Amino acid sequence: LMPVITVDGPSGSGKGTVCRLLAEKLGWDVLDSGAIYRVLSLAALHHQIALDNEDALVPLAANLDVQFLVDSQTNAAKVVLEGEDVTTTIRNEEVGAAASKVAALPRVREALLRRQRAFRTERGLIADGRDMGTVVFKDAPLKIFLTASAQERAKRRFVELNARGLNVTLSGLLKDIQERDDRDMNRAVAPLVPAEDAIELDTSELNAQQVYDKVLTLLDT
Ligand code: CDP
Repeated sequence: LMPVITVDGPSGSGKGTVCRLLAEKLGWDVLDSGAIYRVLSLAALHHQIALDNEDALVPLAANLDVQFLVDSQTNAAKVVLEGEDVTTTIRNEEVGAAASKVAALPRVREALLRRQRAFRTERGLIADGRDMGTVVFKDAPLKIFLTASAQERAKRRFVELNARGLNVTLSGLLKDIQERDDRDMNRAVAPLVPAEDAIELDTSELNAQQVYDKVLTLLDT
């Protein structure tokens, strides 16, 4: 098995961009584990399963009919749930909040472990999430943990969602982020904390390129 680089951290800490750039540079795959939780919560909504109904969510998670595709022309990631393109739908704030609810359920996380580990192939993997370094790929030789102030992360989300034409407010997003942080950090299993051997990087004062440049210096060590 080829090595894995894990990149964990809270919402808006800049994981997504760093992971994409790293994967392009190294020619490795990316696991967007958050997308799996987002897709699962969307599937729960479709099947009218309550977000705290663990007994029903476990088989849904185990049998989730999801495909992660890469558009061969644009190189853009595409997510397909039960035959439907949900690439943009899963990025909504409501879906993010729902994802963090299903993600708090221990047996749901357990049911998704194998699927996540299967992303590790002979090509090498950049794993983006909350528990990549602490649970899913504990043996990863390089673990990165990105942080940033909640205010800064809300600002980034604001810019991102506004660019997509969504009607959001900065104060609303800050509240969403704080609620999600709270749920993610205080859950019983796989809480959002850096792995003991993770390298922490505060990105509050850095733009995406600067974060990427810092991470590149870690590759050589
Ligand atoms: O894009 P953003 O960072 O806002 O969120 P995400 O990475 O797509 O994750 C959505 C939610 O899924 C998080 O708030 C977590 O509750 C959950 N999640 C998790 O529990 N474990 C992971 N490895 C990834 C995401």
